[in-house]
Amino acid sequence: MSHNLKMFDLQRDGEVSITQQLVTLFATLIDSGELAPGERLPATRALAADVAINHLTAVRVYRRLAELGYVTAAVGRGTFVRRRVPVALGASDGGPGGRATDDDDWQIGMLAARPVTYADEMLRDSLHAPLAGDAIPLGSGYPDPELCPSAELAALAAQITRDHPRAITDYLQVEGLPMLRERLAELGREAGYATSADEIIVTTGARQAIDLVARAVLGPGDVAVVESPTFAGLLASLQATGARVLPLPVDEDGPDIDALERILARHEVKLVALQEACQNPTGADLSPPRRTRLLELARTRGFFVLDDGVYATMRFDGEPRRRLRADAPSHVIYVDSLSKTIGGGLRIGWIAASGPVLARLVGLKIDADIHTAALPQYLAAAYLQGDRHAELLRAALPVYRERRDALVAALERHLAHDATWTVPQGGNHIWVTLREPVDERILYVESLRAGTAFLPGGAVTVEKSSRTSMRLSFGLVEPELLDEGVRRIAVALREVRRRGRGWVGATGALS
Ligand SMILES: Cc1ncc(COP(=O)(O)O)c(C=O)c1O
Repeated sequence: MSHNLKMFDLQRDGEVSITQQLVTLFATLIDSGELAPGERLPATRALAADVAINHLTAVRVYRRLAELGYVTAAVGRGTFVRRRVPVALGASDGGPGGRATDDDDWQIGMLAARPVTYADEMLRDSLHAPLAGDAIPLGSGYPDPELCPSAELAALAAQITRDHPRAITDYLQVEGLPMLRERLAELGREAGYATSADEIIVTTGARQAIDLVARAVLGPGDVAVVESPTFAGLLASLQATGARVLPLPVDEDGPDIDALERILARHEVKLVALQEACQNPTGADLSPPRRTRLLELARTRGFFVLDDGVYATMRFDGEPRRRLRADAPSHVIYVDSLSKTIGGGLRIGWIAASGPVLARLVGLKIDADIHTAALPQYLAAAYLQGDRHAELLRAALPVYRERRDALVAALERHLAHDATWTVPQGGNHIWVTLREPVDERILYVESLRAGTAFLPGGAVTVEKSSRTSMRLSFGLVEPELLDEGVRRIAVALREVRRRGRGWVGATGALS
């Protein structure tokens, strides 16, 4: 290794910074396989001596490589090449952060190192993989834009800005536009998540709602429990509070309440985060007996339940269900948004809560952005008047059901011998688990090569699993392409197994 480095000709007065040249060199060596997964890099002092740079620059090089996902550092043991399939994240060619110049170099030393979890690594790999451009997008949880009412919203926006131009410029109340809160409360009475507009805070998407709830309830040292697998953003917000986040397994009846009881016996839990219906990614619904036990535990043990309902409205089979908050309004904090049905670009979400936590949430909302942008709130309020939203759902849900059926048929056709899954009654996703595990990074990259993207299971689980799972999303993809997408995954899987390097061991093998 040091031989290679000594041979490397640093351009000391070139346009590209020394740090970036070394980052590019290491990235190239890792991408080409010359530096193998698990290989240890020289200590920073040795690197500095080898290539005649100062020690701080060597530290920056490794920091940047870690940020880009090429290496991991183990305290006291050194820096190692990650056991990952290189997906050329582009340290040198416009990957995350792009090309660093001499002028930017100082930032690397200034920014505190952020611990990167396995889920972060997987999510980053899947979002930045350069091959994903033309792939069939089974990894994306976006709704189909063709099913969103863009033209109607454009007409409403024109009308609002004409009749009420100050909707664009005036500040609003922190909690949101009264007319929108009233309408959301009405819808909340039907669904069970709210009884009055006072309980509603309009947020910038459900993503912000989740973040505010996590920060309102949790701090460093607290314990939170979350379904695993879950929505990546939920996991990220809980972990960002510094709380310890424990996983709750999910099966076809929803989160495992026996497992929750075992956790409660050993920890003082402050928050249990879940999606009661059409869970992302498993599609599971919480069964009635588990629902009763969960709420009993919340009352007797005193913890908050964060119920994320963004997919609950997207039910195409089975009976509509009352939201959890209907039965325990003081313990359940509900979050939702219009993103999956009307459109994510609106960024309209909301929280329904009561009691002291509500005031705390309002305080955090002020700190975050004072209030959610006014025009989308006016638009949402106008759109939600009358029966429009219900009509939109009546048109869109059968399309999603057809796509769900097509994806299930494709799985049966191409992966029946290799994988298991459950059929969701709503939402946009199917969680597929292989009967025999392989390294999910290798499968992921092979699948991209074959032309299909999916979300690797590791991106949405609290801890690394010895199983290999993937989330396949059907929202954006036409039925014929769903079949082709799964066929390509099956081809990729056969290729991974054929090469016989798919599985690298259940523990410790993936850094
Ligand atoms: C379960 C779940 N909750 C919340 C969100 C965030 O929604 P929004 O786009 O409204 O911020 C998503 C987005 O994919 C999601 O899947």
